[in-house]
Amino acid sequence: MRPSELSRPPMSSISSLFNNSRLLASDISRKFNLPKRVNPLDVASGMRATASLDINVQTPKLKKDVEFGEKAKELIDAEARVLVGTYARTPVVLLHGKGCKLYDVEGREYLDMTSGIAVNALGHGDQDWITAVTLQANTLTHVSNVFYSIPQVELAKRLIDASFADRVFFTNSGTEANEAAIKFARKFQRFLRSNSECPPIEFVAFSNCFHGRTMGALALTSKEHYRSPFEPVMPGVTFLEYGNAQAAREVILSGKIAAVFVEPIQGEGGIYTATKEFLQSLRSACDEVGSLLIYDEVQCGLGRTGYLWAHEAYGIYPDMMTLAKPLAGGLPIGAVLVTERVAATINPGDHGSTFAGGPLVCSAAAAVLDKISDPHFLASVSEKGKYFKEILQQKLGGNRHVKEVRGRGLILGIELDVPAAPLVDACWNSGLLMLTSGKGNVVRLVPPLIISETELEQGTEILLKCLPCLDESLIIS
Ligand SMILES: Cc1ncc(COP(=O)(O)O)c(C=O)c1O
Repeated sequence: MRPSELSRPPMSSISSLFNNSRLLASDISRKFNLPKRVNPLDVASGMRATASLDINVQTPKLKKDVEFGEKAKELIDAEARVLVGTYARTPVVLLHGKGCKLYDVEGREYLDMTSGIAVNALGHGDQDWITAVTLQANTLTHVSNVFYSIPQVELAKRLIDASFADRVFFTNSGTEANEAAIKFARKFQRFLRSNSECPPIEFVAFSNCFHGRTMGALALTSKEHYRSPFEPVMPGVTFLEYGNAQAAREVILSGKIAAVFVEPIQGEGGIYTATKEFLQSLRSACDEVGSLLIYDEVQCGLGRTGYLWAHEAYGIYPDMMTLAKPLAGGLPIGAVLVTERVAATINPGDHGSTFAGGPLVCSAAAAVLDKISDPHFLASVSEKGKYFKEILQQKLGGNRHVKEVRGRGLILGIELDVPAAPLVDACWNSGLLMLTSGKGNVVRLVPPLIISETELEQGTEILLKCLPCLDESLIIS
């Protein structure tokens, strides 16, 4: 059944969340420590609207046409009592999924264009993934890195065969992969310049970049409001304009830079794509002074662009690349892929992890990598991505709030001239799950890579149907 045909109450008949669920509203108040006179829904909507952002788009007052089912309400209420309040969640309680469809506790169906934030590349419940995981779970799940294990070596071999890299270090997440890359870069520079009193220890990162939330990766993340409550973070990071090759060249040639971190396509930052000239210029400047070039492909890597690695579209290769999200098809994993000359400077004890590279996640990842690296699979992502972008441009491009549809493969962004949250909310009410990014004014579309053209058309139709909410949600104050 098409998500748009699902039986759900029409938006007009949905009473406001505040009237609907006094209990939840009071919990939101408690959770965010709001004074009594503040409507928690304004805060909740505002948080999603600006999720992550130093917004420079005017945040309008929003209508609160948001509905919770009874079962969802119960769980959301319980969550507010027991979890640390770090997430401004969409109020959907998901129960199970198959392919590109997700189902909530009320039995409603959604078309998933979030993939668990670019994770579920094979969708939900892929049979080969389930087989790999269950077989391995029945054999050996965890041994720690005190011992050798076969799946870890098998996965590393596959990653090396499929990339520029000579060696791999496994982690449990994207932020940890970037932490490892920071340490490896510092160690590399210290090792290489053991005679120097001040080897290069600083880093370059770019506007709109996102590299994670642990202290090192956070220091490399551009959004100040992510960093400022936790300062001091790692010092020595210079943020430059993404795409400004000349500015980057000048800073890199200072000789102080251990490594440059760059996303070939920025996901959280608003789906901005690097140019070949920009990456080429970073590569040349790094080579001139011995700085390392690190690609963060945590979000854009592993088939999402229609290339196995996003940087393959440019033919400019890094010294290190960090991966995570889709690699184990939903199980937690991260990886740093490095050249031999970087690996040669790392010794036992320099870095490590209890869980990383365990047999279970590595077996799952091998199954994912085998499927995604198939040239037919990659070609299908490329074709579907082109088709999706085309129909989005055709059908939505005429709307006055749509400024641009951009991206490559199945990582696409629709930039609006207003916050995207009302549209994202209206779409999930109509059975389509999406994300925001950028300064809150970009709809981010990262569906499972297995999505069909029919599902892409369905998603586009829902978006088209919901677009008028952008006008409705602007209440003239
Ligand atoms: C480009 C990029 N790097 C790093 C991270 C951090 O990954 P994780 O959330 O697994 O720590 C993210 C997460 O969104 C990301 O998009």
